[in-house]
Amino acid sequence: MGNLLVTGGAGFIGSNFVHHVVRNTDHTVTVLDKLTYAGKRASLAGLPAGRVKLVVGDICDAELVDGLFADADAVVHYAAESHNDNSLHDPRPFLDTNIVGTYTLLEAARKHQRRIHHISTDEVYGDLELDDPDRFTESTPYNPSSPYSSTKAGSDLLVRAWVRSFGVQATISNCSNNYGPYQHVEKFIPRQITNVIRGIRPKLYGKGENVRDWIHADDHSSAVLTILERGTIGDTYLIGADGERDNKGVVELILELMGESREAYDHVRDRAGHDMRYAIDSAKIRTELGWAPVYADFESGLAATIDWYRTHEDWWSESKDGVEAFYATKGQ
Ligand code: NAD
Ligand code: DAU
Repeated sequence: MGNLLVTGGAGFIGSNFVHHVVRNTDHTVTVLDKLTYAGKRASLAGLPAGRVKLVVGDICDAELVDGLFADADAVVHYAAESHNDNSLHDPRPFLDTNIVGTYTLLEAARKHQRRIHHISTDEVYGDLELDDPDRFTESTPYNPSSPYSSTKAGSDLLVRAWVRSFGVQATISNCSNNYGPYQHVEKFIPRQITNVIRGIRPKLYGKGENVRDWIHADDHSSAVLTILERGTIGDTYLIGADGERDNKGVVELILELMGESREAYDHVRDRAGHDMRYAIDSAKIRTELGWAPVYADFESGLAATIDWYRTHEDWWSESKDGVEAFYATKGQ
């Protein structure tokens, strides 16, 4: 594939993917990232300059995107506004980046006839009841709940339309909740880990019964590389690692792994429209493409993630106070 253009490559999952590509392939990578509050140069520190180049810019900038597509052999599109709570506070940037940004990339893919892989989320399918025996599959109808997930659903539909109407060489993947290094402290797991490090009690929304299906970001990266190499153009692949856990159990496990009492957390105001449960059936990518996750054990992956936040306080500390001040205004 040669040179990969990775949008959002300075964010959480995008930077994990760039590290994965450098470790496991010979490709060079050009990262296009606006460096919003969620993007950090430091997430790409230590990568070889001859293999990875960062271009700071907006995926909505058609002229910039056009030039970068001309030089790319394939494109992986991670850039997004990604946090549900922010989308409830101010939806506008979600429409700009997730919808208009994806449209801008698709038009460049059409003009330059470039292979593009679009990164999406299981949240496009809405949520499941706690006792529902079914999980999401590639044929589950779209039913998003939040401004964030509805813009991601919209971006997926744009990709499908550009494949069918213009023959764009695209694939889509919808992944479940990721954890691992380089995740912003606004998100659930890093927020609670860094709370404990700072001596703040973890904050659980509502009763904490909500279930998320956790996958390590490095497993997400290997799945995306597999789709890029062997996926069928026009197809969608669900990515998950059979990692269902309720939020209460995750907070208790974090506290236990960090040497605190399992009860040392607070219940805070619930998220508006809070999705109850996500669960992925990843049979298609496993059987058709032969992919499997490596981090089968959530507990040891979480312990390694705790260790990473303990040893990388310089990476997250400047974001922490602002995030907690924002949540305080919401009673969370
Ligand atoms: P993130 O918020 O950590 O990173 C997003 C990155 O995109 C940041 O580096 C940011 O600077 C960049 N960006 C934002 N707007 C941009 C713009 N207009 N132009 C260029 N760059 C811009 O997000 P994440 O958690 O790493 O998620 C990455 C992708 O994976 C998103 O598309 C998200 O929907 C999807 N996804 C996330 C998860 C998860 O658990 N976090 C699960 C499934 C899918
Ligand atoms: O399912 C994939 C999605 O996972 C991605 O598309 C999103 O980009 C990503 O942010 C994530 O969305 P969630 O809303 O599930 O993740 P978040 O980390 O915000 O919250 C996880 C769960 O924890 C959710 O049920 C809300 C709850 N929560 C969150 C925070 C920040 C708490 O109980 N306390 C908290 O402080």
